[in-house]
Amino acid sequence: MKLTRRKFVKKSGQVLLAGPILGSSLLSFNFPQKTRRLKILILGGTSFLGPHQIAYALSRGHMVSTFTRGKSKPTVHLDKFNQVEQLIGDRENDLSAIEKGEWDLVIDNSGRKTEWTRKTAQLLKDRASIYMYTSSTGVYYPYLKAALDENDPVLLTEPKDKMDDETRLEYWYGVMKATSEEETIRAFGKNRSIIVRPTYMMGPGDKTDRFIYWPIRLYRGGEMLIPGKAEDPVQYIDVRDVAEFMINLAEKNITGTFNTAGPEKVQGMHGFAEEIKLTFNNDISYVNIEDYSFLQKNELPYLIPWIMPTGNNYGTARILNKRAFENGLKCRDLKQSIKDTLDWWNSEALTQERRDQYENDPKGLLKREEKILSKWKSLKK
Ligand SMILES: NC(=O)c1ccc[n+]([C@@H]2O[C@H](COP(=O)([O-])OP(=O)(O)OC[C@H]3O[C@@H](n4cnc5c(N)ncnc54)[C@H](OP(=O)(O)O)[C@@H]3O)[C@@H](O)[C@H]2O)c1
Repeated sequence: MKLTRRKFVKKSGQVLLAGPILGSSLLSFNFPQKTRRLKILILGGTSFLGPHQIAYALSRGHMVSTFTRGKSKPTVHLDKFNQVEQLIGDRENDLSAIEKGEWDLVIDNSGRKTEWTRKTAQLLKDRASIYMYTSSTGVYYPYLKAALDENDPVLLTEPKDKMDDETRLEYWYGVMKATSEEETIRAFGKNRSIIVRPTYMMGPGDKTDRFIYWPIRLYRGGEMLIPGKAEDPVQYIDVRDVAEFMINLAEKNITGTFNTAGPEKVQGMHGFAEEIKLTFNNDISYVNIEDYSFLQKNELPYLIPWIMPTGNNYGTARILNKRAFENGLKCRDLKQSIKDTLDWWNSEALTQERRDQYENDPKGLLKREEKILSKWKSLKK
């Protein structure tokens, strides 16, 4: 199946009237107890996480500027995006639009190279109070143990060994994220850096197509394939919960590193399946396929949030999330996330061509599911 877990999506105003909020001395920097208006610069802002950060930040009364190449437009909250200051440049070679200006908070979402984060963190370190880097639980790859927490070592170099392309990409991504975290802290110091490490995000605006199978399939109803063993752990998080958590951390001046994974309590694959079964109140019967080798043979080693918990992925969905919940992370109802995601998928924000591309992909599970189920049943006879 052509569903690479780290599939990268290449696509990945108003002039501010108020003066900078930044105090004259960074040493005396401190957020007041009461939430005040923050001046926020988002590097990125038009893809998946960014639009939700913008919408939430504006709803909290903050001021937002984005920095992008001006190529992509959000498919959610476009109205909100149009209200913010849009700075244009290129992280590759043109940072002139952010060479001046002061911000309380910089959110680095669009980090795709360590060098990009090094340059922006260095450029902004005396003109911004806090640098928040959007990292990933990918920094722990390979996930060889359970209960990975923020103090566990992260991946700082790519092994030279031979490996398949997907594994290579996992290593590259983990190193890029971990070394970008280092660059953040190098420039801003630990007490002015916030590192957020989300697990697989889902929700409206997702460009990866990694989770949309569930909303579509649950809505269609009927017999449905559930891969994996009952207790195989799953972790996922609604993108909006990540966005709100990030803004709230900055408002509360809570710095540090946070694994950002839901649900709060450990959940197995069958628990996940049961929780979502009644999302659309239609007739659904599950066929549980627990046999890993059958799933492998049928090119189903993962169906996010389920990832076969073997080898390098043993601990992928066993990451400790305690610190994030202790510091304000909240997860909305999973069924609501699924409904909202389907509404977005079927909305005018996306073209029919875009939907067809996924829904009619002969290599995608939507098209292959029936065949896999009948193979499974004939084996069981
Ligand atoms: N999706 C997940 O499940 C997941 C999980 C863990 C972590 N993460 C991390 O979450 C972060 C958020 O991703 P997102 O897609 O939602 O980010 P985003 O901030 O919404 O979008 C990425 C932005 O980068 C801009 N961009 C791309 N190339 C650029 C360049 N050369 N110079 C300047 N801007 C450029 C794009 O706009 P233009 O095209 O207009 O330039 C776009 O606005 C990423 O760092 C990702 O690694 C994601």
